[in-house]
Formats: sequence, structure tokens, C-alpha cells
Amino acid sequence: MCGIYGYLGEYPASDEILRWLRRLEYRGYDSAGLSVARDSGDIATVKRVGRIQELKNAVDAIGLSDGRVGIGHTRWATHGGVSEQNCHPHISYDGRYHLAHNGIIENMSELSAKLSAQGISCQGSTDTEVATNLYATIASDDPISSLRLFTSKIEGAYALVFLDRDHPDRLFGAKKWSPLVLGFAEHGVYCSSDRRSLEGICDEYVSLEDGDIFVVRSRDDYTIVNGGVQIVRDREELSGEEIATELGEFSHFMMKEIHEQPQVVENVFAGRVNFETAEIASPTLKALAKRDISRIVIIASGTSYHAGLVGKHYIEHLSGIETDVVVSAEFKYSWHRIHADRVYVFISQSGETADTLECMKLVKAKGGYAFGVVNVPGSSIARLSDAGLYTHAGVEIGVASTKAFTGQILTLLLMALALGNARTLPHAEYAYLLFEMRKLPDLIARMLARSDAIRTVAEKYASYQNFFFLGRALELPMAQEGALKLKETTYHHAEAYSSWELKHGSLALIDANFPTIILNADGPLHAKNQSSTQEIHARSGPVIGVISDRADAALYDDVLRFPETVYELVPFVQVVLLQLFAYHMTVVLGNDVDKPRNLAKSVTVE
Ligand code: F6R
Repeated sequence: MCGIYGYLGEYPASDEILRWLRRLEYRGYDSAGLSVARDSGDIATVKRVGRIQELKNAVDAIGLSDGRVGIGHTRWATHGGVSEQNCHPHISYDGRYHLAHNGIIENMSELSAKLSAQGISCQGSTDTEVATNLYATIASDDPISSLRLFTSKIEGAYALVFLDRDHPDRLFGAKKWSPLVLGFAEHGVYCSSDRRSLEGICDEYVSLEDGDIFVVRSRDDYTIVNGGVQIVRDREELSGEEIATELGEFSHFMMKEIHEQPQVVENVFAGRVNFETAEIASPTLKALAKRDISRIVIIASGTSYHAGLVGKHYIEHLSGIETDVVVSAEFKYSWHRIHADRVYVFISQSGETADTLECMKLVKAKGGYAFGVVNVPGSSIARLSDAGLYTHAGVEIGVASTKAFTGQILTLLLMALALGNARTLPHAEYAYLLFEMRKLPDLIARMLARSDAIRTVAEKYASYQNFFFLGRALELPMAQEGALKLKETTYHHAEAYSSWELKHGSLALIDANFPTIILNADGPLHAKNQSSTQEIHARSGPVIGVISDRADAALYDDVLRFPETVYELVPFVQVVLLQLFAYHMTVVLGNDVDKPRNLAKSVTVE
């Protein structure tokens, strides 16, 4: 997704910006650019479609090593196609202001028409170009009053950083509904849309809040204004390692992150579960369990939504609390009365997904209790939560989410157990499940060891264009997640269904060229899933069975086996299997598995 960045300090700005752009390469983008105020007084702007290396080559070609102030941007197209013209920074019609922007200006058509009436036309088709020109028409030499006027005219979401040719000693901008932080290092000050990108570089940061307008002149000289009032925002310590971009023994981050899942499980348990006493010791979960809860509503997008569906199964079965799971994009516009005795659970790897964040603000504004299940510490959703748990999966670089999902479902399982233990869940069942959960790291490691067998099946089916993923009950969200992983990285069409729902229409698609992956763990629905397999076979459809080591393979064309475990823990092995299946097929097809086309790591626009 788009990222914005500014640097003002002692180091060459182009070096700092390129370093940052490289760090955020994993987030997904289609073009990138930078503007640097040169020692000569000019501003140099370089933009390129494609990879950061191409931008770097162009920067090297013009010898841009001077200049200590600059802004940079990675773009993920929303308004306007992928082109250098539409790439940021945008330059105002008079050449004075350079702007990098994240978000969407919603009244761009109206503003553009007003500018046209003044004889100012835009060359490209982005909202940011309109915004840059608008700023130039109203700006004075005082950026604070100019930004106050400017932000009163634009509607939508934005994080903005401006560079002014006539005052190249300062950076200024504004934030509303899009993340933006100021980072402080010995040698200078940074503006960034991604706090983590500053880890290992800055020792302190300030998180800007909605409505903030800022001007930065040095690390000790900056002003923040909100609603016309000057604000002092606390500087927070920025600990943490530089984002790990080492692949180690792996060829891709997706594979590396799939292999980190045993560790993620250990991390989620750490400090929260005492296996000796069979106790969930987390104070957050203890406090949650004591609440009088009439219903739980889970709100999330994509893979996090699928984790929510698994969580619904856990919460309802173990605690008896009815649970809804709603896609973030739909929740905000659906009819939902917010109840004070419900718990609204927001699941997000990045903690910055705009669809989910907006729902959270809406719930909180109406008095709802917001519980965050978030991976990125200090992210917007984490900060806004009334209470919450981190999923401790570590930085996820592959655009396709893998290890974060495991952290999410394990956190939700702990939540369900804590709620159940405080309600009607028999202690023996609670203790037994905890006992089995302790084996998860080993179980996942045994699943990972089967990677080669999964690759063989993935290779065999790589040339098919369409797939069904079937499952029922707890395995249905796993089918949904398996289909999503396959779509994202292979670009093959994949759809997930309840195994029994297929016969209500979609069975018409089955023929010899339409393989089905059926998730069929041992349990009460095993025989029913076998019947579904027969129905597909009767229409000549190939079927790959995802079955346990003890299940009968005779019915299937191919099988992908997982180590036996209790039913509730099947998602933890199935997800690894499905991730590996998508990964291997993608590598066979030659796609960029870590940066799938059209996708971004963190979707910070609604
Ligand atoms: C899929 C994927 C996305 C995200 C979704 C929500 O592999 O990564 O579907 O799960 O965009 O993102 P977060 O969890 O950051 O809110």
C-alpha cells in the first residue's frame, strides 16, 4: 500500500529515502518517487514505475547525493492508472510545492472543477495532484494557517507531507484517518506512514492524531497544531529491531514466515499460559472473562476475517457466547445497533487496515467496547482498543498473510477457553485442550516437514485454472483461507464452499478440468464429506483430499495428509498445508510469491 516519508537532517536525503523505500518494498506498490531539495536551491524529483532498484538507478544517474531535506513515496494505484505521471511526489502547477500523500481525497472532482475554473488544469488523474494544486492556490508563507485552510477544503482520508521550494529547510503536513508518525534520531527527523520502518533508526517517535497539522524544522524544533491549538504530544520510545529483511536459508519471505509458525505459537503462549497449572494467566483475558457479555461481534478483513470465523467456532463451542463475524467493509454500512454489553473484537495483522479501523471508531463513538487482536504493536487499532492482545507473530513481510493467521486463531482459542472456563466449559475439557495445545509447535513442525510431498501435488495441478475448496464447520473457514491464499499468489480462480452447499448450484461447474480440494478431518462430518467427494467424482471432477494420517485415501485422486490431532486444533495444521500448497504452486508458475500483482500488504484506504 502507499507509503509516505520525509527526512530532514544531516544525512543525504536521497540515501535515507531510498533506504526507507527498500525497507517497505514488501508492502506492495506499483511505482515510487522522491523529491529532494538540492544544495543549489532546486528541487530534484525522480519517479519510476516498477521496482525501487529502478528508482535508485535513476537517482544515481543524476548524481543526487546532495540535499538534506526530502520526501518519498511508494504508490499503490487508487485514483488513476500506474504511470510516472500519477506517481508521487506531485508538483504544484507553479513548481513550488511537492506533495506525498496517502489516503483518498473524496471531493477531488469538485475541487478539480473549481481549479479548472481558475485556469489550473491537472496533467494526470490523481486526487493528490488536485490537492497539490489546491494548496498552491491558497498557501501563504505560514504553513500552519495555510494547512488549516487547506484541510478545511479537502474531504477524505490523508497523511500529507509537503516540501516547499522556497523554504527547503522545513517539512510540513497533516493527518486524518491515515497513519503518520514523526521519528527522532540523533542526526535528524523523519515523517513516516509506518512506525515500524523507523525502528532501529530513530530512538523516539510521536504518533500524530487525526486533525494534526505539523511543521518540522529540526529534531528539536517542530510544531503540532490541532483545531487551532498548539499541542505537545508525548515522545514515545522507539525500541525494536530494524525490520528483518534477511531471508536466511529460504528463497522467499512467504516460505520463511510459514516456517516461523511454531515460534509464533510459543510467542502467543509466553506469559499467558501456565501449562503446569492448566491456567490462562493473562490478566487481559481474566478481565474479559469476568465481563457480562451478551454477544461477541468480530470485525475483520481478508485472512483476519477467516481467523474470525475460526474464532466464532471456538467461542460458541467452548463458551456458549453467540458470535457474529462481519467483514469490515460491510459492517460500517450495515444496520448494527451498538450494545454496551457486547464485545466488539477487531482482528488485524497490520493494525492499520482502514476498513477495520473505521468500524472501530464507529463502535467506540457509539459506546461499544472494542477489543483488539493485533499483530503490530503501537498500530492505530492497537492504540484505539479498550483492551486487547497482541498476536506476537513478528514482522510479516510476504504480502500473503501466513504466520499472522496462526497467531490470530491461537489468540482467539485462548480467549474462547478463558471465557468458557469462567462459564460452563467442564474443567476436564478445558484442561485437556490446553494439554493438547502444548503440542502445537511440534505438530506444526511435523506438518512443515511434509513440504516436499505437498510440492509434488501442487506441481501436478499447477496448470488447472479453477479450483473449489470445500469444508464444513471448523474446516469451512480453512477452505476459505486456502482458496484466498491460492488466488492471491497463483492468480488461479479458487472458490470456497461448504461441501454440502455445492449441490445447490455450483456443482454445475465441475468437470475433468475443475479440481476440488476437500478438507476432511476425522470427525462427525467425515462421512458426509466423503459423500460430497462421490458427487464430484460422478461428474468427473478430480478431488484432492486433505485428510489425517489415519484416514482412508482410497476415495481421492490425490491426498495431502496432516498429522493427527484433536478436532479443535486441525486448523493449525491445515492452514500450514494450504499455505505450502499455494506457495509451491506459485513458485512452479513463476509468479512473485512475496509481492503478488495488484496487492498491498496493508490496505490503509477504505
Ligand atoms: C491475505 C491478506 C489480506 C489481509 C487483509 C486484512 O493474505 O493478507 O487479506 O488479511 O487485508 O489485513 P489486516 O489483517 O492487516 O487488517
